[in-house]
Amino acid sequence: MRKNIVAGNWKMNNDLPLSEALISDLKKQTKTSNAEVMIAPTFTNLWHAFEATRHDDIEVIAQNMHFAENGAYTGEVSAEMLKSVGIKTVILGHSERRAYFNEDDAILAKKVDQALTKGLRVIFCFGEELTDRKAANHEAVVESQIKNALFHLDASAFKNIVLAYEPVWAIGTGETASPEQAQDMHKFIRKTLNDKYGNQVADDMTILYGGSVKPANAKEIFSKPDVDGGLIGGAALKAEDFYAIVNAF
Ligand code: G3P
Repeated sequence: MRKNIVAGNWKMNNDLPLSEALISDLKKQTKTSNAEVMIAPTFTNLWHAFEATRHDDIEVIAQNMHFAENGAYTGEVSAEMLKSVGIKTVILGHSERRAYFNEDDAILAKKVDQALTKGLRVIFCFGEELTDRKAANHEAVVESQIKNALFHLDASAFKNIVLAYEPVWAIGTGETASPEQAQDMHKFIRKTLNDKYGNQVADDMTILYGGSVKPANAKEIFSKPDVDGGLIGGAALKAEDFYAIVNAF
């Protein structure tokens, strides 16, 4: 079922002391919306974060995982390892993984398959570059990213997937997509799902927006009919800002 979700992607920020301090501040915040709250610390902080929020309305999620069961993949982390520290949801396909670590659609399809096979919920990220949007190619790019990584799946798999549209040109830039741009793309994404899988999958899909969401713009973005919440980067690193966004519904 569609849900309101606000997930904080901490990216490569916060050592253990800073993670402890931020979690302590997050626990002091009051949630006044019905949004599900998630935080994604780095791998080294996951167990502590899970333990520290075990009795709070905060789900700790992972920023990534490998597609293999286990083996000779130095530096990587498997789905089972994430599950062993309490993780039930994993972000896959973030534009920074695509750009800096060469994660293409084929690799991401394998990661999605492994995550779903292991019973994890997937927050699948995608989004166009500025050149794509300027060329009015943004819908074709997003459609390709979704189809190439997800459209081999059965309809039933989509109950364990959340989609996150993150226009690359809006990530970390302060250049937020307008609420209308976000709505237009989310509506297109829902139509793309409907054309392939029917209206049940499309209607039930939670679609998050990510890219310079801040306390000042969250309410208008989240008010759009096909926007179900946000994947938050910079603003997730300050507890008050993050909960201002959580409460923006
Ligand atoms: O995954 C969310 C992130 O890419 C958005 O970052 O800093 O633009 O909110 P930011």
